[in-house]
Amino acid sequence: MYLIELSGISKSFPGVKALDDVQFNLKAGEVHALLGENGAGKSTLMKIISGIYHRDSGSYRLDGNELEELTPKTAQELGIAIIHQELNMCTDLTVAENMFLGRESHLHGLIKQKEMNRQAKAVLDELKIDIDPTTVVKTLPVSKQQMVEIAKALSTKARILIMDEPTSALTEREIVELFRIIRDLKQQGCAIVYISHRLDELKEITDRVSIFRDGRYVATRNFSETTLDEIIAMMIGREIKEKFPHMSVAKGAKLMGVSNLCSGIVKNVSFELFAGEIIGLSGLMGAGRTELVRAIFGAEPIEDGQISLDGEVISIRHPLDAIRHGIVLGPEDRKKQGLCTELSIRENVGLANLDRVCNRWGVVRSGVEKELTGRAIKDLRIKTPSGEQTAKNLSGGNQQKVVLGKWLVRDAKIVIFDEPTRGIDVASKVEIYNIMNELKTKGIGVLFVSSEMPEVMGMSDRILVMCNGRITGNLISKETTQDEILRCATQFTVQ
Ligand SMILES: Nc1ncnc2c1ncn2[C@@H]1O[C@H](COP(=O)(O)OP(=O)(O)OP(=O)(O)O)[C@@H](O)[C@H]1O
Ligand SMILES: [Mg+2]
Repeated sequence: MYLIELSGISKSFPGVKALDDVQFNLKAGEVHALLGENGAGKSTLMKIISGIYHRDSGSYRLDGNELEELTPKTAQELGIAIIHQELNMCTDLTVAENMFLGRESHLHGLIKQKEMNRQAKAVLDELKIDIDPTTVVKTLPVSKQQMVEIAKALSTKARILIMDEPTSALTEREIVELFRIIRDLKQQGCAIVYISHRLDELKEITDRVSIFRDGRYVATRNFSETTLDEIIAMMIGREIKEKFPHMSVAKGAKLMGVSNLCSGIVKNVSFELFAGEIIGLSGLMGAGRTELVRAIFGAEPIEDGQISLDGEVISIRHPLDAIRHGIVLGPEDRKKQGLCTELSIRENVGLANLDRVCNRWGVVRSGVEKELTGRAIKDLRIKTPSGEQTAKNLSGGNQQKVVLGKWLVRDAKIVIFDEPTRGIDVASKVEIYNIMNELKTKGIGVLFVSSEMPEVMGMSDRILVMCNGRITGNLISKETTQDEILRCATQFTVQ
């Protein structure tokens, strides 16, 4: 018997049929991967299972019993826990307070703080996660916050655990830890639904896969009886020939020169970027890559050093200076820095292009705004009923596409992306790479930070490796190896 059995499930939102007559089942003790392109309906289905959304139609059986009404609270009581795609925490509260939010133990109306910290510590210890439960969450790096989310879900003693892209913000080491935790849970009979766009990691843990496309159910397979190529073909309806369509373009003139730049942990960074060149910025988490690109964009103060553009030294004190000079940045954290989630796609695109959109009296020309929005939606294949959709209602990957699209529709000289393909499906990744190639042919310089080694090696012409705030490697992609990059990335002492 199945632990969970869903059939004939449909769910619509205004203008979108997110799920159309789909099925899904889950066995005890299995890791079941749920795969599909951005906007396929994966998160929506998981929200139905965990009582956040109510299905429009269809049947939902848990332990063989039909479930009618389900709220997040009853789902939790039934042993269902979900780790959301977007971090979902009260960042001003402590780790323990977040873990036990709404489930605090009381004494005469007072929360038993010590007791809660002790319990939180026990859960963290059991998972071998080294975080002090009294730490305020916002002081933790994103990857650690993600681990707290996982601990929180597990502290409810769930027997069904849904993980919606848990690894997108984790470091390599933490991913290994997570897989260890998943294997342990499996041993204890816990069933896990696992959503990820990092298909390579599936082989580590997956027992079965279910594939969705465009709100419809495609197939379920035993993982050992299928291949990644077959899975990709089922996800997107065709095969992908070239995952990294690297293109060689004759290098143009020098566009940007950075010399001895210092900002926070970034120390004495110097490099050049040429027209039509793609530079990949590699390194371990915390190496200073994000800090470096933020400094170039004027989002962090430059303490020392110079940036020149087309041979002239420019002053960048604020992102507006950078934008005026034709430098744009698609940031790492889409929810906090990349988007106004309460605004529509059109408004987000408009905000990034106010100089183009406004007439000389500062009035928004809605025609121009609509045109740019239409272009972003088309170029990046953003799945949405219209440009008027509120950003928060888009699927995770489609939000990421808005972050990129709003900058790509303007004619920038230098395009900087921080983890551009985080949460993006395989097919859309290739499209983003093609867009990067297009920028190249236009003579635009591209600088992108990425933690995915194959992507850095596959798409860049040159790789800069950072460690400890410094550049420890300047490598030609064609001539280097993964080992050499790693060696540079861990070179803590610079000669
Ligand atoms: N609250 C909502 N309001 C309106 N539309 C929604 C809402 N939630 C989801 N949708 C739409 O439903 C469709 C499915 O979205 P869902 O988030 O389930 O996709 P997904 O498979 O999780 O994609 P991703 O891989 O990008 O996370 C999308 O078109 C999305 O825009
Ligand atoms: Mg999703």
